[in-house]
Amino acid sequence: MSTLPWKTVWIAGASSGIGRAVALLLARRGVHVAASARGVDALNALAAEGNGLISVHPLDVTDAKATYEMSKEIEAAHGPVDLALVSSGTWKPFKLGDIRTDAFADSMAVNYLGAVNMAAAVIADMQARGGGQIAFVSSVAGYFGLPKSATYGPTKAALINLAESLKTELDGSGVAVSVVNPGFVATPMTETNSFPMPFLMSADKAAERIVDGLASGRFEVTFPRRLTWTMKALGLLPYPAFFWFVRKFVSRR
Ligand SMILES: NC(=O)c1ccc[n+]([C@@H]2O[C@H](COP(=O)([O-])OP(=O)(O)OC[C@H]3O[C@@H](n4cnc5c(N)ncnc54)[C@H](OP(=O)(O)O)[C@@H]3O)[C@@H](O)[C@H]2O)c1
Repeated sequence: MSTLPWKTVWIAGASSGIGRAVALLLARRGVHVAASARGVDALNALAAEGNGLISVHPLDVTDAKATYEMSKEIEAAHGPVDLALVSSGTWKPFKLGDIRTDAFADSMAVNYLGAVNMAAAVIADMQARGGGQIAFVSSVAGYFGLPKSATYGPTKAALINLAESLKTELDGSGVAVSVVNPGFVATPMTETNSFPMPFLMSADKAAERIVDGLASGRFEVTFPRRLTWTMKALGLLPYPAFFWFVRKFVSRR
């Protein structure tokens, strides 16, 4: 019997990395997971490991209509979505000598507008029921601009701002909003990074932090704290001190 506050959790980005690890952890703890992403084979492989508690719902979150229709399909099959976790995302390192506006547009479409599509698909029903939770996996890369991050960071800053705005609107409605800001997690997204990734955490460990944090109803779930609290402190510095620190300690290669 699950001690978690959700019966049905919808995860976008469940086929890989953090979303996959959260799906498996929830299934182990008796929660039904409706798993979405574009890769059908990877979703089927996930479901095969899910004790019969993971259902497969292929979806491209950049398609607003399909995302809305998928929420109805999931609710019809599995009951109300108690938690929608938006873990879908893409990371394209920025190269100063090769600025690609299409990469900026793609990143914003998946990381930000995909999350908006998920919110649009679930929030009205949650409000009508007077309960539910939506959580966006953003990143500490959204706290401020860093080298290599110009394509990705703004999408994550937008996501943090979206979560804050929705929380102010939904407070008192019974619908909880959370934002998850991880540091570095070992997933297919980070496996080709050539720069140092301090305090790199496993996806399973990250999943535990996410599930515990969201179950407690916290607005921001961030880890590992040694990194993320240092980043928060850095963000409080006046710009000259901030840029000095980044020049001195953050690799631009
Ligand atoms: N790994 C890290 O260090 C780290 C740190 C901070 C934040 N994050 C964030 O955490 C989230 C998960 O990242 P991850 O590390 O687990 O990466 P990942 O292993 O690459 O997983 C990304 C997931 O997003 C899905 N996805 C991508 N585009 C999609 C689309 N258009 N529609 C639906 N699903 C889509 C992918 O599946 P398909 O390709 O099959 O669609 C996959 O399931 C991302 O938002 C990422 O920005 C990661």
